[in-house]
Amino acid sequence: MVYRFGLIGYPISHSLSPWIHERFMEKTSTKGTYSLFEFTQQTPVEGILKHLKSKNVHGFNVTVPFKQQIMPFLDEIDQIANRTGAVNTVINKNGKWIGYNTDGVGYVRSLQDKFPNLFKMTPRRALILGGGGAARGIFTALDQFHFDQIDIANRTKEKAAAICRHANKDSQVLSFVEAEAKLADYDIVIQTTSVGMKPNIEQTIIANKDFPSNVIYSDIIYQPMKTKFLQQAEKSGAPVHYGHTMLLYQAQYAFEIWTRKKPDIGMMEDELEQILKGR
Ligand code: ATR
Repeated sequence: MVYRFGLIGYPISHSLSPWIHERFMEKTSTKGTYSLFEFTQQTPVEGILKHLKSKNVHGFNVTVPFKQQIMPFLDEIDQIANRTGAVNTVINKNGKWIGYNTDGVGYVRSLQDKFPNLFKMTPRRALILGGGGAARGIFTALDQFHFDQIDIANRTKEKAAAICRHANKDSQVLSFVEAEAKLADYDIVIQTTSVGMKPNIEQTIIANKDFPSNVIYSDIIYQPMKTKFLQQAEKSGAPVHYGHTMLLYQAQYAFEIWTRKKPDIGMMEDELEQILKGR
């Protein structure tokens, strides 16, 4: 069998997904291709799905601006994607399009790989900085992996409150100033806002210079890999978790949905680091 995979979104010409999935195909001896299907926001989703079916696409990834837009046009949506309110992976199963969201699970997998002890702690307490789509996906996944406390700090408090409402948890919604004062109350602090992303690499969401060093600091930004936020954490002697690992693990879970094969990440973290450094 020769698979046809791809990515829909705009702009996607710099996407790392073709590289990642081609490496996965090599690693699992799977024959196939991964193509970029670039469509602007104005393109009707029905037309895109028709096009992909005519090309016999088995599965595809979805990125901006279609992650929410595509949902009403799919035949089924899995529970996590529904709760997250966004789809990033679709499979063609016997002619039906089924949507998933692999971001949250991918994030947790990357964390399990680097910090397995975090998942043995009780209670497990996380603070998410940011209240956008990524925060929602990560909140849902941490909840699934039995985190006891998941609080959110966001500029727009209503957005954070809306995420918390979905869970049967005693989550707190904080301002960034409040969050800064209580970082030590958590086992992990996860930065999901776009603050600090290239080209604004001097920006950081938490102004404090000294981070409590008993906490893991994680940033989902991968350009740059070492954000100002993570630099501050490292300077304080705290453990850090880089964003590019999430990219690999969310792709691994998508590949698994499409092929039922789980590729080994192996040295791909280092390889991706080199690719990102060259950009
Ligand atoms: P994604 O899907 O990647 O999470 P998003 O939905 O646009 O992207 O969310 C971006 C997040 O970064 C939001 O939480 C946003 O805060 P608001 O909810 O208040 O809009 C946050 N963000 C972006 N720029 C910010 C800034 N300058 N200061 C504080 N938060 C910011």
